[in-house]
Amino acid sequence: MSINRGKLILIEGLDRSGKSTQCDCLTAKLGANTVLVKFPDRTTPIGHQINAYLTSASDAKNDSLESMHLLFSANRWELASTIKAHLTAGRDVVLDRYVYSGIAYSYVASRASSTRQPLSLDWLQVPDLGLLKPDVFFFLNVSEEEQVRRAGFGEELYEKREFQRSVADIFHKILPKGDETFHLIDADKSLDEISSVIYETVAAAPQPGDFQYYIKIV
Ligand code: TMP
Ligand code: MG
Repeated sequence: MSINRGKLILIEGLDRSGKSTQCDCLTAKLGANTVLVKFPDRTTPIGHQINAYLTSASDAKNDSLESMHLLFSANRWELASTIKAHLTAGRDVVLDRYVYSGIAYSYVASRASSTRQPLSLDWLQVPDLGLLKPDVFFFLNVSEEEQVRRAGFGEELYEKREFQRSVADIFHKILPKGDETFHLIDADKSLDEISSVIYETVAAAPQPGDFQYYIKIV
């Protein structure tokens, strides 16, 4: 008898939208047979470079934006076969950020400086084409007021008000709003309310069939 494959579940959102808390909650609620994968995964050699980029105070970053974008994608590719193996073995996998963060943040970063070329959505999505597509996808939609109120905001490179506003705009432009796997979540609600909606939606999602891969993201 073959085992049902696990569900690939994605939670996306801005910084301080409550993503990581909700990923932890969902992983705990789904039980021991569940794996949480956070992107960027800062523990790999590629992840170390990403962490240095996000936490360094240096301003000479815009020149290397293309290579950073490719490293964020490479960080997803280096875990792609591990994720697929978990799913094949019947384990659910919860993703904390994925290809949409990759596109949205680099899009805005490339426009934050007048001295460089802006990157197009066509260019930005290519490195992630071929990655596994999630079976259930949530976007935590947090208001700006709530986001800046939350502890820790402003610690890292992209955690600036103006920047996050632009990232929110581009997220809303590229999210697959008509897709039946996609769910927009009001992230100003309480942690418990949000985690219940997310868990119930995942539990009600149909048993996934064949693996689906991105052939186009935006
Ligand atoms: P984190 O706050 O979820 O740890 O993510 C760190 C930052 O990295 C966050 O500001 C979003 C950004 N990011 C990208 O720029 N590209 C990507 O592909 C991913 C996954 C995150
Ligand atoms: Mg962050």
